[in-house]
Amino acid sequence: MTTASAPGKIILFGEHAVVYGRPALAIPVTQVHADVEILASTSTGIWIHAPGVHLQADLNSLPSDHPIAAVIHNFLFISRTPLHLPPFSQKMGGVPRRGEGGQGDGKFPNLQINIHSSIPVASGLGSGAAVTVALVRALSSHLNYPMTDEEINAFAYDIEKLHHGTPSGIDNTVVTYAKPVYFVKGQPIEIFKVGAPFTIVIGDTGISAPTKESVADVRKLWEGDKAKWEGVFDQVGEIAKKARTRIETGDWRLLGELMNQNHALLQEMTVSSPELDRLVEAARKAGAVGAKLSGGGRGGNMIALVQPENADEVSSALKSAGAKNTIVTQVT
Ligand code: MEV
Repeated sequence: MTTASAPGKIILFGEHAVVYGRPALAIPVTQVHADVEILASTSTGIWIHAPGVHLQADLNSLPSDHPIAAVIHNFLFISRTPLHLPPFSQKMGGVPRRGEGGQGDGKFPNLQINIHSSIPVASGLGSGAAVTVALVRALSSHLNYPMTDEEINAFAYDIEKLHHGTPSGIDNTVVTYAKPVYFVKGQPIEIFKVGAPFTIVIGDTGISAPTKESVADVRKLWEGDKAKWEGVFDQVGEIAKKARTRIETGDWRLLGELMNQNHALLQEMTVSSPELDRLVEAARKAGAVGAKLSGGGRGGNMIALVQPENADEVSSALKSAGAKNTIVTQVT
């Protein structure tokens, strides 16, 4: 049996503007994760069991652009493992391919793949990216085809396009490297340093909201008035740059105001929601240093920066204001 896992993530600053080339900061959240186990199977074919998304199926019965099926097809393709179906895309731009890819005259590997994830789906915590990365890692190890983090990241970015349409690549990057990431689309990955640890409370609205939709809606706004939205994205980018400096110098108390400003700009982008705003307000009233939505928005999660001794109070305030779940995480 082979196992692999990958963490969830939160975006601290810069979501949405990052799709348009501005910097963003994200950190892994290890309290939630995707876990994959692969066993040799006595039944013919590749069987996938993913109870979290109510999936119990033979690979061949799934459309080839189903995100989980696509990971398997693409992996079998790049690793030249004999297979029956072509990969979901013949143009896997980002995937560094070694060799020509297998075209299926050999024997299909018989596998049972079990996927369990504690990351809520469509909640801004990177569940899609985590499942992809854990699954690729497990396949790479089980089928003895070693891949570097860079290769896994490029592979996962291709799959993210199925989840998100036009992703920036930040989710797959932070989940692959499992480190705090300062991300600019198309540029080499920068891991940022945390000068002094700080505490974040994550509050879940319990409302699932596909990132694909909010990203598409922001694109419509941008297409309608590029000058205006480029200006808004610039402001978000400046906030992310300042935040990085404050985190690196250990001045985390000064981050709160930046979070509040970033939330206001996300409201302007129409990606907040009454439920997210209610949680953000409740966190601030309970003494959080700052708060904002995190990820695609419209539902999903928000984050609050807190003094460590205030984390429980903010957590309870979030639950009273309707949060379905809270997670307290230390950024180190
Ligand atoms: C999603 O976690 C972050 C967004 O900026 C989309 C992306 O960067 O691909 C909303």
